[in-house]
Amino acid sequence: MEYRCTSTGQSVALSPHTWKSPQGAVLDLAFRPKPFSLADCQALPPNLWRYRAALPIPPEAIPVSLGEGFTPLQTLTVEGVPVQIKLDYLFPSGSYKDRGATLLMTMARYWGIDEVVQDSSGNAGCAIAQYAALANIGCRILVPEDTAAAKLVQMEAYKAQVTKVKGNREATAQAAYQMAQHTFYASHVWNPFFLHGTKTFAYEIFEQRNGQMGEAWVLPAGNGTLLLGAYIGLLEMQAMGWITRLPKLIGVQAELCQPLAEAWTQGKAQQDAGYHSHQATWAEGIAIAQPQRGFQMLEAIRQTGGAMIAVAEADIADALLELTQQGYYVEPTSAAVFAGLKQYLRQQPATNQNQVVSVLTGSGLKTTEKIDKILQQQKSPA
Ligand SMILES: Cc1ncc(COP(=O)(O)O)c(C=O)c1O
Repeated sequence: MEYRCTSTGQSVALSPHTWKSPQGAVLDLAFRPKPFSLADCQALPPNLWRYRAALPIPPEAIPVSLGEGFTPLQTLTVEGVPVQIKLDYLFPSGSYKDRGATLLMTMARYWGIDEVVQDSSGNAGCAIAQYAALANIGCRILVPEDTAAAKLVQMEAYKAQVTKVKGNREATAQAAYQMAQHTFYASHVWNPFFLHGTKTFAYEIFEQRNGQMGEAWVLPAGNGTLLLGAYIGLLEMQAMGWITRLPKLIGVQAELCQPLAEAWTQGKAQQDAGYHSHQATWAEGIAIAQPQRGFQMLEAIRQTGGAMIAVAEADIADALLELTQQGYYVEPTSAAVFAGLKQYLRQQPATNQNQVVSVLTGSGLKTTEKIDKILQQQKSPA
């Protein structure tokens, strides 16, 4: 197994401290699972480690695991059509980031790492801090100043050392790059092992839908940890002959931070290098002005015949309230994806039953202040 530079295609030796290519580009993992059958997995407990045959983890590595995964897939009627929603906010740390973090921290422990650093707008930091605690590995998380209080408390409860960095998300990343020169960089953005954890999303859907992947998957598009993981999983299943056709991947961003939706509309392969967002959106988790893997997300969307969608703030707030009325208490970022799902269904009025899959990614318990503001706005609209 080795890394592959996404800019030159050259191989780069696999080593714990290598997190970018000599050209400074993001790395992929040159890995394809040996063909296996779903029946082999079904004898194992119902969590994401049942797909271990698909995971790039040495056989002797012991998983740093809380029995996570295999989240429910619920049928919900949206815009008059039954669709299926994966409840990925029901992970131990309260978000789907546990998929990537369980894998990455398993590798960290296997490599004998005693301290990790990571930068995050919140949920990835919580997930890494959680598994660092479980693996007894020291953990430093850098966050932007405006990170939700509940997420900071959660990281600190796991005994992570949390540092707030002045400025935007990019300033936080820059501070992490400095520390990553001498500390293991447990980055959900740069480290491709993370994506091989999030790919279990696709394997679970395959199993839960008896191999029917549907026409389209509507997913968040921040740094692409879920979208790209799902794409890797789909390509692997296609290579093993499990599926013949991939669902269209539909990426959702907020209008207030939509570098990829803009690039998509303009037919560009990459976001504008000068793109930056001026205003904060409700959807903090997908507010990434310069996603490092933006070009890969656009390519995955193009290859599957998908599209990018941008949603308005008012629609995010409405979507959140609609979800709570159905019993789903999730973050505004998840509500943004639901708003994108509604927009997609309105654009595709002929969609058949259960042909569209989407996801709720983060628990509302982590963003109490924002949800409270949305409720207040509803009571007294401006
Ligand atoms: C709740 C939630 N949903 C979605 C995302 C989107 O991330 P990505 O595009 O990297 O999958 C995030 C990222 O932090 C998040 O916290």
